[in-house]
Amino acid sequence: MTSLVILGANGMLAHALAHTAAARGHHPIAIPRAQCDITSEPQLRAVFEQHRPTVLFNCAAYTKVDAAETESHQANAINGYAIQTLGQLCRAHETLLVHFGSDFVFDGRATQPYREYDAPGPLSAYGQSKRLGEEALLADNWDNWLLLRTAWLYGRHGVSFPRTMVELARKAVPLSIVNDQIGSPTFTNDLADATFDLLERQTTGLWNIVNSNPASWYDLAVATLEAFGINHPIRPITTADWRAIRPQQAIRPAYSVLDTSAVTHRMGRPMRPWREAVQDFAEQVRTAEGF
Ligand SMILES: NC(=O)c1ccc[n+]([C@@H]2O[C@H](COP(=O)([O-])OP(=O)(O)OC[C@H]3O[C@@H](n4cnc5c(N)ncnc54)[C@H](OP(=O)(O)O)[C@@H]3O)[C@@H](O)[C@H]2O)c1
Repeated sequence: MTSLVILGANGMLAHALAHTAAARGHHPIAIPRAQCDITSEPQLRAVFEQHRPTVLFNCAAYTKVDAAETESHQANAINGYAIQTLGQLCRAHETLLVHFGSDFVFDGRATQPYREYDAPGPLSAYGQSKRLGEEALLADNWDNWLLLRTAWLYGRHGVSFPRTMVELARKAVPLSIVNDQIGSPTFTNDLADATFDLLERQTTGLWNIVNSNPASWYDLAVATLEAFGINHPIRPITTADWRAIRPQQAIRPAYSVLDTSAVTHRMGRPMRPWREAVQDFAEQVRTAEGF
């Protein structure tokens, strides 16, 4: 019988994966940080011993991009070195490791979407820590891990940029949003669905998975408020304007759109456009949370 284990179970993506797994007839075992800190090898070993996972989804991560600039040790321990240990344990137990990478491993100087094996060049401590995790897997054989590189996530549970936009707009806070960083906004539900589609096709290795079409943070903010039916002005600003207001912020790539042609071919379908996904997100939030 298949045993699916999700680590970092209180996170945004973990919730979507648990929901999708259940909807597809699985009974995932969701393990939060309080029960397993992935930087503790004994705690990881206990998970393998107790649950004998067939597939282990690692959703545990250090995701505070700005704080990572001063907490890079912690970010590297969680996003980098722990992934090496997890990879080794998965290999030893014949478990498939499903891990998630980030567009922030790129330097943003490209002018066309990044493909899986384009040269990385992280600009931030967070990006460097995520690259460490990728390298830990890429150094190993490729048959027991699935590394899904994604970007600009938002979902029903947890803090995300679209949710923050809605909350600020509802409090009538003036919004000035960066319009010259271009990326790939991605709904966790769509990522979770694609993850299971790939697993059903016995997929391993490194793949980009994001919703289709590029966007700026400003585009995403405007589309989100429209989808929620909120009429509130948003002023587009440049990264330079934003850095003048928040000089301590980590540097983000100016362009981090991910090319999904490989995964489209593999799944036999494209990821849907991000604007459709934002509409769906808004409908789900409004239905579940009553606004
Ligand atoms: N969010 C994005 O925009 C984005 C973009 C690209 C890639 N990704 C990647 O996608 C994955 C999922 O991200 P997410 O947005 O769902 O993250 P998230 O909501 O921040 O969730 C991360 C979870 O990991 C837990 N965690 C942190 N350190 C841990 C540790 N040492 N041991 C066990 N659990 C630990 C956190 O617990 P606490 O709440 O207790 O801290 C939290 O529940 C991550 O690999 C992330 O790097 C995210």
